[in-house]
Amino acid sequence: MYNIGSYEERLKDFNWGISEAKLGYRKGDIINIGEYCSDRICRQGKADKLALVWEGHSGEIKKYTFNDMRVLTNTIAHFLKGLGVNPGDRVCLFMDKVPELYFGFLGIVKMGAIAQPLFSAFGADSLLTRLEDAQTTAIITQKKHVGKVRKILEVLPCLKHVIIVDDDGTKAPREREIAFCMDKALRVENFDIYPSTAETPSVLHYTSGTTGKPKGAQHVHYSLISQYITANWVLDLKEDDIYWCTADPGWVTGTSYGIIGPWANGVTQCVLDVGFKADTWYKFIQDRKITVWYSAPTAIRSLMKEGKAAVDKFDLSCLRHLCSVGEPLNAEAVLWSQEAFGKMFHDTFWQTETGSMVITNYPGMKIKPGSMGKPFPGVSAAVVDMKNHQPITKAGVVGLIALKPGWPSMFRTYWNNEAVYKSKFINGWYICGDRASIDEDGYFWFVGRDDDVINTGGHLVGPFEIESALLEHEAVAESAVVGKPDPVNMEVVKAFIALKPGFEASKELDLSIMNYIRKKLSPLAMPQEIEFVKSLPKTRSGKIMRRLLRAKEWGEEIGDTSTLENDD
Ligand code: PRX
Repeated sequence: MYNIGSYEERLKDFNWGISEAKLGYRKGDIINIGEYCSDRICRQGKADKLALVWEGHSGEIKKYTFNDMRVLTNTIAHFLKGLGVNPGDRVCLFMDKVPELYFGFLGIVKMGAIAQPLFSAFGADSLLTRLEDAQTTAIITQKKHVGKVRKILEVLPCLKHVIIVDDDGTKAPREREIAFCMDKALRVENFDIYPSTAETPSVLHYTSGTTGKPKGAQHVHYSLISQYITANWVLDLKEDDIYWCTADPGWVTGTSYGIIGPWANGVTQCVLDVGFKADTWYKFIQDRKITVWYSAPTAIRSLMKEGKAAVDKFDLSCLRHLCSVGEPLNAEAVLWSQEAFGKMFHDTFWQTETGSMVITNYPGMKIKPGSMGKPFPGVSAAVVDMKNHQPITKAGVVGLIALKPGWPSMFRTYWNNEAVYKSKFINGWYICGDRASIDEDGYFWFVGRDDDVINTGGHLVGPFEIESALLEHEAVAESAVVGKPDPVNMEVVKAFIALKPGFEASKELDLSIMNYIRKKLSPLAMPQEIEFVKSLPKTRSGKIMRRLLRAKEWGEEIGDTSTLENDD
């Protein structure tokens, strides 16, 4: 029996009070995500239940119960308070998927600060942009990443504390650095958890747009109401499940469903801090007896490439429910998962801004392979006309995905950027920036993004950030960055570059530019292909026509170029 029961029944009488009641929350109460995920679960008699089973590179395994998690998150919260970090301050998490990342997140919100997770593969420039925008007070990191922080420390007077979790503290600390070893620190049994209420800020996740700098989507503690119930009804998490979310908490999936959703449900989760390799993943599922698995299309397509023979080497009969997010899940991948695992992946659609799943395939619901499914009960979703933003009622007509504001985990603003936040709301709808259609049965079908943001392997990359970084390379006069189709990653970054006089196209220059971006921004932002051009297509007002270049890559009709840019 699935937790959601019948989707149609749930739709009829749904209100968010159902989730509030399950969590024992009443309007006006104190609500702290850290408390709900650890102390509350311990009070339910599950103090000795495993909360986290972590496996590292060398096969090393660490296990923590809910009580360990309660105490260790207290310990981190206490440590931060002792440093002088205040409620409302931004504290960045910049680590691999180590236990300190997961408990650090909960420790930060327990003391009332705002957790700002950033992907540990980010280079110094990507880091700087986001720390500067958030005026971050402290960063929690590892020795292997601290070099990138040191590079930018001088231009970040706001960043008062650099906390290193795997430093033994024997050497004299460098400026603003401090060692903190979670497993050896004096355990803090009791901590005065910050009395946050529904609208108290909790998390700041940076996401890329077409123009301007990355934007910080700011969430609040009340988001828990959505994250808890979607984890319960869509991931179908139950008391005895062993859950694995493959996402990194540097991105929203890794926090909403790699931390908050499962732990608010009191479920044991496993983390594998090792890069992708089919055998390693299958062995992990087999050994850890994973029952519910939340992953992403690029990973599924990569597994598909390895074939069914790779699956058959392992006993994966433990798996009972599979879900996916982040990019379009093609029908072939859904059908393959049925053949390989005896289960279909259930696609779910949502965004950093939505904070929780909004359109999903429910357990027990008929899956139409290739469709994102139907709106979560309580989420009013439509496809609206691209021009007048009125809901389209005719089946199969493509428009923009739009959501009626009001679900608990909706972002509350973009940090320092209320104007752009407001611009996302038109005609009373939040416009996601994606195109889709709805069929006669109410299923949503993804068509594509409505902007130039590149989705590579489920990670959004902003072309503007890459173009700005490219301009700092000595050889680059101007550039345009677009997504190019890729069979596994869906899209990869391609850069069109016009060189400065005196520079000539060559393989070496290609590599030099690629490496430059990889180090400065991240491996995700690194162009996989560079095409050197004499000049770039521009509108009469001088704006580079990215869409024209993109259309060429995708073999699409370019049509009347005057419609591609409307500022001219
Ligand atoms: O374009 C959509 C795509 O990823 C975007 C959101 O990315 P981000 O904020 O990084 O959050 C990713 C994880 C929640 C969306 O606007 N996207 C997400 N899920 C799907 C998807 N595209 C197609 N199908 C999906 N299921």
